[in-house]
Amino acid sequence: MSQPLRLGIAGLGTVGIGVVKIIQRQADLLAKRAGREIEIVAVSARTRDKDRGVRLNAYDWEDDPVTLAQRADIDVFVELMGGADGPAKAATEAAISSGKDVVTANKAMLALHGQQLATAAEAKDRVIRFEAAVAGGIPVIKALGEGLAGNEIERVVGVMNGTCNFILTQMESTGSSYQEIFDQAAALGYLEADPTLDVGGIDAAHKLALLASVAFGTKVAFDDVQIEGIERISIEDITLAADMGFRIKLLGVAQMSGRGLEQRMSPCLVPANSPLGQLENAMNMVVLEGNSVGQIVLRGAGAGEGPTASAVMGDVMDIARGMRLATFGQPAKTLADARPATTSIPAPYYLRMKLLDKPGALAKIATALGAAGISIDRMRQYGHTDPSAPVLIVTHKTSPSAISDAIEGMKEIDVMVDEPVAIRIETV
Ligand code: NAP
Ligand code: HSE
Repeated sequence: MSQPLRLGIAGLGTVGIGVVKIIQRQADLLAKRAGREIEIVAVSARTRDKDRGVRLNAYDWEDDPVTLAQRADIDVFVELMGGADGPAKAATEAAISSGKDVVTANKAMLALHGQQLATAAEAKDRVIRFEAAVAGGIPVIKALGEGLAGNEIERVVGVMNGTCNFILTQMESTGSSYQEIFDQAAALGYLEADPTLDVGGIDAAHKLALLASVAFGTKVAFDDVQIEGIERISIEDITLAADMGFRIKLLGVAQMSGRGLEQRMSPCLVPANSPLGQLENAMNMVVLEGNSVGQIVLRGAGAGEGPTASAVMGDVMDIARGMRLATFGQPAKTLADARPATTSIPAPYYLRMKLLDKPGALAKIATALGAAGISIDRMRQYGHTDPSAPVLIVTHKTSPSAISDAIEGMKEIDVMVDEPVAIRIETV
C-alpha cells in the first residue's frame, strides 16, 4: 500500500466532526478503496476543550489554522471553518503556498475568491476541491466536471438552500405564515448564523455562481447573480399558486445563450407535479441539461453532518487516488470572463392582484397587459366578502421588462387595490 494521505482539518463543527467520524468509523473501507490509508494528523478549532462527542486526542492540536495549513507533515488541508475571508482564506492561501492540496466546503470563500485561489493553486501544481460547498451531499460538481464533461451544458436549475425549501414547503403544508415557520427553522438550528444569507438568497447564489463556472467554463461571477430572497413570499401566494397547479421555490437558474450568461436566484413557480415541485422540506435538487445527455435530476440532502461530510470525503478520496482535476473543471487561466445577460429569457408569469369588484375592472387589467404586449393564458377570480376580489392571471411567455411596464400601467388603474405581485414561472 502507498503512503497514507495525511490530513489537517481546520473546523470541528457540524461538517468537521462529520468528517472525523467517517474516517474513524470506516478507516479500512477508505484504505481499500483509495489504496492507502487516510490519516488525520492535526486539527484546529477556536475552543480546544469543547466536548465534540468524538475522540480527538490522537491528533495534534493547532490553535492557529494558518499554522496547521503550513505543517510539513500534512498533504491536504481540509478547510471547514467557513467565512468568505478571515481565517478560512488566510489558511487556504497558506496551505497552497506551502504546497498542500485543499478540500473545502466554503461556498462563500470560493464565490468571492475562487478565481484567485484556483490560479494560486495551479501555479503550485495543487488542487482545490469543493464538492461539499454546493448542494451538500449531492455530487453535482463531480457530475458536471466528470460525468458530463463531454456535454455542452445548456442550463443548470435547482433548489440549493435547504432552509428556504423547508420554510416554503412548511408554509404550504401547515398554512402558517412566513414568520411562524422562519421561527421554527431557527429553533431547529437550520439557519446560518446570519439568517439573511439563507432567506435573502445569498447562500444559494454563492452555490449557483460556482455551478455556473464549472458548467460554462467561465470565471466565478457572483456579483452578476440577480438575487432575490423569499422574504416577500406570503402564505396567500403559496396557496393561490398551488390552486393553479404550481409550487413556489427559491430557484437558481444559470443559462448561457446569445444574450450572455444569465444567473438568477429568486422565487419562481414550478409545476407542482414536476420533480422540483415535489421537493419537500430541507432537501436540495439540481437539474442539469446537456446537449448530448438531455436532462439529469439529482436530489439529496443539501446540508447536515453526514451528507456534507460525505461530499468532503469524496474529494479527499479523489486526491488519495491521484485524481487531480482543475478546480472549476478546466485550468483557471482558460476560464472565460462571463458576459452577463442584460435581459432574462422570456417566461410565463403569475400575477396576483386585488381589484374592486366593479363592472369593467377585469377589462381594464386586460388592457394594461395588452398595452405591455402581454397575452393572458389563464385567469381566475375568487369569491370574496370584502369589496375587493382576488384575481390571478397566468400569462404566456413574456419579458421581465414587459411585466414591469404592465405593473406600472396597472398602478394607474382606479380599480386596483394594492400593488400586484408578479412571480416568474420556470419551465423545467
Ligand atoms: P460550524 O458548525 O459553525 O463549525 C465551524 C468550525 O470552525 C467550529 O469548529 C469553529 O470552532 C471553527 N472555527 C471558526 N472560526 C475559527 C477560527 N478562527 N480558527 C479556528 N477554528 C475556527 O460550521 P459548519 O456548519 O460545520 O460549516 C463549515 C463549513 O461548511 C462552512 O463553510 C459552511 O458554509 C460549509 N457547509 C456547511 C454545511 C452544513 O450543513 N453545516 C453544508 C454545506 C457547507 P469552535 O467549534 O471551537 O467554535
Ligand atoms: N444554510 C444552508 C442551507 C446550509 O440551508 O442549505 C448548506 O449549505
